[in-house]
Amino acid sequence: MLTPNLSYANLKESYLFYHIAQRTKAWLAEHPDKHLYRMGIGDVSLPLVPAVIAALHEAVDDQSEKNRFHGYMPECGAPFLRETISEYYQKRGISLSPDEVFVSSGASDELGDILDLFDRSNRALIMEPAYPAYVDANIMAGREIVHLPSGPDNHFLPLPKEGLDADLIYLCSPNNPTGAVYNRDQLSQWIAWANARGAVILFDAAYEAFIEEDLPRSIFEIPGARTCAIEICSLSKTAGFTGTRLGYTVIPKDLERGGLNLNAMWIRNRTTKTNGISYILQRGGAAVFTEEGRKQVLGNIRIYKENARVLMAALDEAGAHYWGGKNAPYIWMQCPNGMGSWEFFDKLLGEIQVVGTPGEGFGACGEGFFRFSTFGDPADTREAAKRLLNLLRK
Ligand code: MLT
Repeated sequence: MLTPNLSYANLKESYLFYHIAQRTKAWLAEHPDKHLYRMGIGDVSLPLVPAVIAALHEAVDDQSEKNRFHGYMPECGAPFLRETISEYYQKRGISLSPDEVFVSSGASDELGDILDLFDRSNRALIMEPAYPAYVDANIMAGREIVHLPSGPDNHFLPLPKEGLDADLIYLCSPNNPTGAVYNRDQLSQWIAWANARGAVILFDAAYEAFIEEDLPRSIFEIPGARTCAIEICSLSKTAGFTGTRLGYTVIPKDLERGGLNLNAMWIRNRTTKTNGISYILQRGGAAVFTEEGRKQVLGNIRIYKENARVLMAALDEAGAHYWGGKNAPYIWMQCPNGMGSWEFFDKLLGEIQVVGTPGEGFGACGEGFFRFSTFGDPADTREAAKRLLNLLRK
């Protein structure tokens, strides 16, 4: 008889954002006249920028003519997009060849898929609070997880320490959910640790475009990363592709483990398991990196940053403790009066119709904290900030 993947029994009953969506939907069904101020899941509210829309339209037209039409795309990405992305790194002083860049359908898909490269016996180190997909994908794969808690004492930026034992290291910087960003020295410590023990770092750079201070936006800015790191990026938050789906992954050719080359392994994986990303989407993605596209997506990021400023001003006025919001699109707040994070979630939803994400959903050490996304509609965010300030002042 068939045996299902029994590791699924070790998962929480539902995934964090699905659970919140269901809970919110149920509340709304009971209060159909209410408007919700959505600052929960990090989903964008602004449309794709004009340069991307123009490129998508043009690509649709290409598909309508025999001599411009594209069938299967190269599995690892269209050369025009792989080159464009390697130039994007080049402009930031990082030398990558186009065949070290793999076009993907988005960071969350890729973070799960990439685990194919690693044996189940490897231990995954997850710094918490963490994006819950890291944990769930490893549980599904039956892998042992080493939970490394962080908190205000280490500014939510844990570092390698004596006795730490793991093979696959998740680093998310700027961090989801805390907004903390590793500096060069701190990343160098993780790189030295990973290289010394033959571990591999999975560096989630989905929020790099939100960094405004002099902090690393790619792990490949740091010497030593090419022999121990894979970087996973997304256009979801950078360019509003949450509903369009496009990302990219960098696997340096220098990265080898157990006598195997991980870049070559990923080519083998992709050429077997995918038929590439659609031509239309890749044309849209390439437009993000043009001068015009870049200006336009930065314009949208400025709007989200203004949302963050509005929310932080309300939290400052209320005397709340919070982290993030400056180099990241998330604000991580300490719940008031020792409240639990789900208790605070229910209070915000019930009393002021603001939806956020309870910190406990990002791991046990997130209990007592709450995350606000700043990707919401600007008018809604201003209203939510007012409501939040009134509630916190009571
Ligand atoms: C989040 O809200 O943490 C993420 O944006 C959700 C996602 O990217 O899957």
